[in-house]
Amino acid sequence: MHLLTLTTLTLTTLATTATAVGNAVVTNNCADPIYLWSVGSSVSPKHTIAPGSNYTEPFHHDDQSGGIALKITRTDNGLYDGSAQLTYSYSLDGESVWYDLSSVFGDAFEGDAVVVKPDDEGCGSICWPEGSTPGGSQVKTCGAGGDIGLVVCAEGC
Ligand SMILES: *[C@@H]1O[C@H](CO)[C@@H](O)[C@H](O)[C@H]1NC(C)=O
Repeated sequence: MHLLTLTTLTLTTLATTATAVGNAVVTNNCADPIYLWSVGSSVSPKHTIAPGSNYTEPFHHDDQSGGIALKITRTDNGLYDGSAQLTYSYSLDGESVWYDLSSVFGDAFEGDAVVVKPDDEGCGSICWPEGSTPGGSQVKTCGAGGDIGLVVCAEGC
């Protein structure tokens, strides 16, 4: 009886540990709102992130697109009007998550620091001190259990 209880408890703990997954967190440290769409095989509604607040979604896998792109603009309809977009992309792959930062149509946060930093300091961060893309991919990987935050208009790297 006691053994059975212990075994059940152990299995429950293991299952919980295996499925625990962190979040992609986007924090707006700018003076004005920013706008975000979460894009996989479909496009989410627009999320407006007020100054000083954040957008959070648990890391997930999209069966068709695989990865997810969090597309961020500084203009209200930015995804649809050709505005500069900052893209925080991630791909959940079992126990790991791969992440990257890129720009299209220009650098949306030119002149301001943008930084992607995992809670787990042992994983790599991505920082653009002046908001401009160094070009090319800077893909990093981390365990999927912790949060990985993007801060726009960050204090610095
Ligand atoms: C995001 O915002 C929520 C609600 O204000 C807050 O509870 C949470 O701590 C914030 N998360 C981060 C990582 O800043």
